[in-house]
Amino acid sequence: MATSIGKDALIQNISSGEYFPISFEELEQQASQKMTQVGFGYVRSGAGGEQTLRKNQESLAKLSIIPRVLRDVSKLDTTITLFGRTYPQPFLLAPVGMLKLAHEEGDLAVAKAAACHQVPFVQSTVSSYSIEEITEATPNSPKWFQLYWSNNEEISFSMVKRAERAGYEAIILTVDTVMLGWREEDMRNRFSPLKLGFGKANYETDPVFLNSIPNRDEESIIQGILQNVLHPSLNWEHVAKLKEVTNLPILLKGILHPEDALLAIENGVDGIIVSNHGGRQLDGVISAIDALPHIVRSVNGRVPVLFDSGIRRGSDIIKALAQGAEAVFIGRPFVYGLAIGGQAGVEKVISNYIQDTIVSLSLAGASNVKDLTTSNIVHS
Ligand SMILES: Cc1cc2nc3c(=O)[nH]c(=O)nc-3n(C[C@H](O)[C@H](O)[C@H](O)COP(=O)(O)O)c2cc1C
Repeated sequence: MATSIGKDALIQNISSGEYFPISFEELEQQASQKMTQVGFGYVRSGAGGEQTLRKNQESLAKLSIIPRVLRDVSKLDTTITLFGRTYPQPFLLAPVGMLKLAHEEGDLAVAKAAACHQVPFVQSTVSSYSIEEITEATPNSPKWFQLYWSNNEEISFSMVKRAERAGYEAIILTVDTVMLGWREEDMRNRFSPLKLGFGKANYETDPVFLNSIPNRDEESIIQGILQNVLHPSLNWEHVAKLKEVTNLPILLKGILHPEDALLAIENGVDGIIVSNHGGRQLDGVISAIDALPHIVRSVNGRVPVLFDSGIRRGSDIIKALAQGAEAVFIGRPFVYGLAIGGQAGVEKVISNYIQDTIVSLSLAGASNVKDLTTSNIVHS
C-alpha cells in the first residue's frame, strides 16, 4: 500500500484554523497548563534523578541519519506487517495507564483517535475504561492488550481471555514493572493515581478479580488491585503458563539485555519490545535506543523487535527503524495531545506523526520503511 506524496505532505500544518501544538516541547508545555499539577507530574516524570528519562532522548540525538538521494521517493510505503496483520504506519500507541488523569474520556478518546487512523491502540491493564467499553466504542480497529501480571494468576488469565474475546490482536506482557519505580516526583506530591482509582476499570469488571476480594466497595477494589498489580515473583514459568491460555501472539515489553531476548525466544515468545518504560522504572538503566542494536543482533530476525522510550519526532522513528526495530510506540506525546484537546487532540498528534514520518522517510531517501538499515545511521 504505497502513499503518494502530495501537496498535503509538502504543506504540512501550514493550514488555516486553530493552531495545535506541533513539537513535543509545545505539547508538554500546553498539557502542563491543562492538567492538575500532580497529574502532569505523574506523566512527565521519570524515576530517581531522571537520568534515564533524559538519556533516552540524548542517545537518540547522538545518532545521525545518513540520507540517500536520487531514489524516487514519490511513492512511499509506510506499512508494516506484524503477526500476519498489516498496519498503515510504522508506529502504535504505547500502553499508558490512568488516562483519565489527562482527560475525562481517557482511553475511550485515545482508542477512537487511533481508530480514525487505523493505528493500533494498546490498552493498559490499569486503564480508566474496561476492555469491553473500548471494544464497544471502537469495534473495527486494531487493538492490543498490555498485561500487568496479577499475583493471583487467574486474574491475569481472565483479563487475557476477555481481550481475546473482544477481538484484541496481541498480548503485551510488561516485564519491567515487578515493583513500582522510585518515582520521586509522585512521592513529593504524595500522589498515587492507582490508590485514587484511576486504573481500576479492568479490575472492577473482572469476575475472577471480584470473586477474589472480600467486598465490592471502592476500598476493597483498590486494596485488591494494590495486592495484585506489583508482582515480584514473575518469572519464565509464568510466560509458559500465559502461552497456554491464549492463542494470541505474546510480546514481552521491557527487554534491555540481549540474553533476556534470547531467553524470550527460547520460551516461545512471539515478539520483543525494547523499552525502559520511558525512564519510569529503574533510573540509570541504558537508554532504549542504545540497547536496541544489541538485541536486534541477538534476535537475528527470529521474532519482531519493537521499540519505545524517547520517540518525539518522525526522525526518531527513522532512527529506530534503521537500527532494526520493526515498529515503534509513541507514549507521552499522545497523552499530552489528549490533555490539550481530547480525542481531536490525539488525532492531531497522530496525524502530525504520520506526516513527519512521511517527510523524514522521503528525505532519508527510502521509499519503504523496510529500506532503512544501519547503513543509514552513524553515531556522532
Ligand atoms: C503516564 C504513563 C503511564 C504508563 N503506563 C503504562 C502501563 O500501564 N503499562 C505499560 O506497559 N507501560 C506504561 N507506560 C510506559 C509506556 O508504555 C512507554 O513505555 C513509555 O511511555 C515510553 O516512553 P516515552 O513516552 O518517553 O516515549 C506508561 C508511561 C507513562 C508516561
